[in-house]
Amino acid sequence: MLAKVTVSLFFILLVWGNVVSGLGAGLACPDWPLCHGKLIPPLRSDIFMEWMHRNIGLIASIFLLLLSYRRFKSYRGKVKLIPILTVLLLLAQVVLGGRVVLSELPVDLTTIHFAIALIIFSLVFYMAFFSENKGTLRMDSPFFLIALMVFIQSVLGAYVRHSGAGLACPDWPTCLGYWIPPELSGSVLIHFIHRTLGYIIFALALLFFALSFLKDKNIRLKSFIILALVTIQILVGVGIVHSKLFFLTTAFHLAIALTILLVSLYSWFQEVERSNV
Ligand code: HEM
Repeated sequence: MLAKVTVSLFFILLVWGNVVSGLGAGLACPDWPLCHGKLIPPLRSDIFMEWMHRNIGLIASIFLLLLSYRRFKSYRGKVKLIPILTVLLLLAQVVLGGRVVLSELPVDLTTIHFAIALIIFSLVFYMAFFSENKGTLRMDSPFFLIALMVFIQSVLGAYVRHSGAGLACPDWPTCLGYWIPPELSGSVLIHFIHRTLGYIIFALALLFFALSFLKDKNIRLKSFIILALVTIQILVGVGIVHSKLFFLTTAFHLAIALTILLVSLYSWFQEVERSNV
């Protein structure tokens, strides 16, 4: 129960954060840790959104500490490092979160902030899945590869977002009217790589789905769910461009990215669990 709630809180926290920045409310509380110098700030929609973001963050952090403590007690040997690392990353995230606000959101910091958030999210999910030691994680699983690619693609997506490159290619399927733009540099390059990596992930998910016919039904189902989610994700990506960054499309894009990450991690962890029975 504690584990599931913690994962859900982090999911909500990340998507909420996206909505806050999509509404341009990221600096609605200009100070930190207080908001407008108060624990309960003046009531205004943008301030409320950012203030709630901080409150959800606080509740999620408390749950994370409880879960980490429980796992620290039940894990044996090196695996004890996972709850310790998670708590250390949370501390780094809180300090960085404050710096991001105080230094008015520079793109490198916001991207690192997002990357750490995704790592914490994945570690929380690990602790939710494994209540005790279940052998070593083998990296030769296709589900691990998908999770890793989605992680990289998501951090790149955050960079696209925070560097303001979301409309550097304002058209689709072409970019500035070309299949491969002649001037591939700056924000066009970043945006173009994000799209291209999206197609590569799709091709990989399709390949794994085709190969899953050689394996059991369970793997086929998971591969199909991942392929379906990646397809929807690409369509939503196109929707972001066509809607000129409408904030709900970007929030949905992030929610699907997190879901693909969860499904691939879940499938990977299940493989690990089965191979250790
Ligand atoms: C597997 C495929 C993909 C994944 C996992 C993915 C993931 C992400 C993530 C996590 C973000 C950042 C969200 C945030 O910072 O909160 C993002 C941003 C973005 N993605 Fe993707 N993406 C994928 C494919 C695509 C494709 C194919 C397109 C375009 C056709 C696209 C267009 C965009 C755009 C324009 C942004 C920036 C939005 C903004 O400026 O607010 N994405 N992506």
